Amino acid sequence: MRIDILTVLPDLLNGAFNHSIIKRAVEKNITEINIYNIRDYSTDKHKKTDDYPFGGGAGMVMTIQPIADLIEKLKKERDYDEIIYTSPDGEQFNQQMANMLSIKKNIIILCGHYKGIDHRIREHLITREISIGDYVLTGGELAAAVITDCVVRLLPGAISDETSALSDSFQDNLLSAPVYTRPADYNGWKVPDVLLSGNQKIIDQWREDQSVERTKRLRPDLLSK
Ligand code: ADE
Repeated sequence: MRIDILTVLPDLLNGAFNHSIIKRAVEKNITEINIYNIRDYSTDKHKKTDDYPFGGGAGMVMTIQPIADLIEKLKKERDYDEIIYTSPDGEQFNQQMANMLSIKKNIIILCGHYKGIDHRIREHLITREISIGDYVLTGGELAAAVITDCVVRLLPGAISDETSALSDSFQDNLLSAPVYTRPADYNGWKVPDVLLSGNQKIIDQWREDQSVERTKRLRPDLLSK
């Protein structure tokens, strides 16, 4: 899977994918993540990428030209399944959306900034708008990093234990059961006996019960989905 991220702040993203599972997925050619600096495609003599809003008002608006030229250039090179714009007005990101994106071949993620982007980009070039939550970030870069991280870890081979992505919280609208590791007794803080029993059937049942109990208590809204 190829993920092309378009941003005016490439430095914010350059380090984000250079660790752990995502870094290994890139090294194993499971995914290719490219970060494009929108400023490099500005034809303005000062390499400007924003301008004052028509009609007045606070904040700057990202201009069409560098973004449209960059997207058109990429589209000439390959077909894209989705061209995503990260924005607080988008559809709220969740595990189902991550699953859906993880089976795509090529996607673009355009990071918004300032007061927004010229609306014509959204009307003519964007296929999907995604928000990572009901709050406003200074830009879409962190949202792009969240989406990329969630999607890449689902790609086959990204996680060594293949069942582990399937048992994530939210995969079946249930929170995960608690996990423990050695020591079994830390100054009197004990691991539940059942996990030390060696009886896999009982352990699996305990985990399922814990998932349901935690979901009822902490996220009852998930059970009605
Ligand atoms: N840009 C600013 N806030 C955002 C959010 N909550 N989700 C996605 N992109 C954003």
